[in-house]
Amino acid sequence: MLIGKSIFLTIRVKIFFFNQWLKSIRYYLNLKFLFFDFLFSFIYFFLNPYRVSRKFLEKKFNKKIYDYGETPITQMEKLIKYFKIPSKGTFLELGAGRGKLSFWLCFFLKYRVIAIERIPIFVKIANFFIKIFKTKNMKFLCKDMLKYDLKDIDIIYLYGTTLSSDKIKILINKFKKLKPFVKIITISYTLDKYDNYFVCKKSFDISFPWGKTKAYLNIKRGM
Ligand SMILES: C[S@@+](CC[C@H](N)C(=O)[O-])C[C@H]1O[C@@H](n2cnc3c(N)ncnc32)[C@H](O)[C@@H]1O
Repeated sequence: MLIGKSIFLTIRVKIFFFNQWLKSIRYYLNLKFLFFDFLFSFIYFFLNPYRVSRKFLEKKFNKKIYDYGETPITQMEKLIKYFKIPSKGTFLELGAGRGKLSFWLCFFLKYRVIAIERIPIFVKIANFFIKIFKTKNMKFLCKDMLKYDLKDIDIIYLYGTTLSSDKIKILINKFKKLKPFVKIITISYTLDKYDNYFVCKKSFDISFPWGKTKAYLNIKRGM
């Protein structure tokens, strides 16, 4: 029963990402991205990120935790357009996973990208790619996002649907210290649910392999 469910889920994720990949085929006209994604996918063909994350969490918390997921780049492109996110500035991805989204943001949208991730192997591989593709505008750091000192950030992306309320509140206190016009995109919850220092400006239906939810654009109240 459990094996059947797991096979079904794997197939569902694969079909979803294949569909998303078809929709994103135009990105591959960019040769740098084509080459990047070919090598990146090759490495991760042998290193399933969902499994890497599960093993990492199993070791840390001594139980099975399924925390990993990825935002399809086509969905991120729609989000950026719909939320009218400025095309310049420093983009912080909190909990960047293996970092495909951060690379895409850096290659196509020319942001200065800071990616924070706690799983060392994801960070090591990302830094290998930063080196070989000479991606000067990107930093990929192995850090706990709850302890990371936020400074000079314009846009934040937080796909942390499994974060506890306490952890979200810690992050909110950090966000409060940022520039007045900072834009924070969250998935499945608004920040004003936890603290009315922030207000939700817009929402957008977003698809993940596990189903649909909402992405929210949060800004400081009164801005
Ligand atoms: C749902 S995945 C999102 C990956 C990526 N942002 C995306 O949208 O494709 C969440 C990631 O956050 C990382 N993460 C969770 N808690 C973290 C923490 N306290 N510090 C750093 N990374 C964390 C997990 O390891 C995981 O890779």
